[in-house]
Amino acid sequence: MKIMDGKNLSAKVKAQIASDVAELKNSGVEPGLAVILVGEDKASKTYVSSKEKACMAAGIKSIMHRLSENTSENELLALINILNLDDSVDGILVQLPLPKHIDTNKILKAIRPEKDVDGFHAVNVGNLVSGLDSFVPCTPLGIMVMLKEYGIDLNGINAVVIGRSNIVGKPISSLLLNANATVTITHSKTKNLKEICASADLLVAAIGKPNFVTVDMVKNGAIVIDVGINRLDDGRLVGDVDFNSVAPKCEFITPVPGGVGPMTIAMLLSNTLKSAKQRALKGVNL
Ligand code: GUN
Repeated sequence: MKIMDGKNLSAKVKAQIASDVAELKNSGVEPGLAVILVGEDKASKTYVSSKEKACMAAGIKSIMHRLSENTSENELLALINILNLDDSVDGILVQLPLPKHIDTNKILKAIRPEKDVDGFHAVNVGNLVSGLDSFVPCTPLGIMVMLKEYGIDLNGINAVVIGRSNIVGKPISSLLLNANATVTITHSKTKNLKEICASADLLVAAIGKPNFVTVDMVKNGAIVIDVGINRLDDGRLVGDVDFNSVAPKCEFITPVPGGVGPMTIAMLLSNTLKSAKQRALKGVNL
């Protein structure tokens, strides 16, 4: 059994990004990421400040917009419009979930696809599914970088994804399919979930339920990717996989914390750098 160390790998990726950012700045382009947080969601606040810190460490300008819970949809759309037109902004990220009175789809659609570093706009989703160049959502992209780093050959393997969210389940399924895996997407209505999971060479758990994946759901020698970040009542952070019982059965497994999580932020920086490089090539951002 080998642990896939996302903390170590993300540090390596971030160092490379910082060096690329410095080079880009020397040529006169400073990458900039605008992050919008609406409301007081505790987890979102933590994620957003981690994103801000990571930008600073990489030399990326971060432009924070902390808006109150009762911000209207129109106010948010107006801010996005300003950022869409601002040449110093390469990436626009609206932290999810948004308050209930705001239509998330409408907001995501308003972000210019060229600045959509989260890869949530329908244009980027469509390009990803079609196997074309696109911004790829950060968590799935981080998983693919980890799989590559550990030399895992995806050609023809049976990959099972648990969870069908737009943020993780659907995009990781597209990426694995594009990499020639045979992909099964499972979810809360799936019949025979345990049997399907137990047939997986690669199991991706993105459910959001602590210790959901138990030892009977995992094949001997499987690769297990745990996307869950669940805070227990006692304050502990655990994944979607019952790590202690599952790990001995695996060829590779990601820990929580220190697995997929740190990769996600590194990929946000990577997507922002990609957007800034595209701006540098074009001369301007319009
Ligand atoms: N909420 C949970 N994950 C994410 C993410 O990757 N991006 C954004 N914008 N919000 C999230």
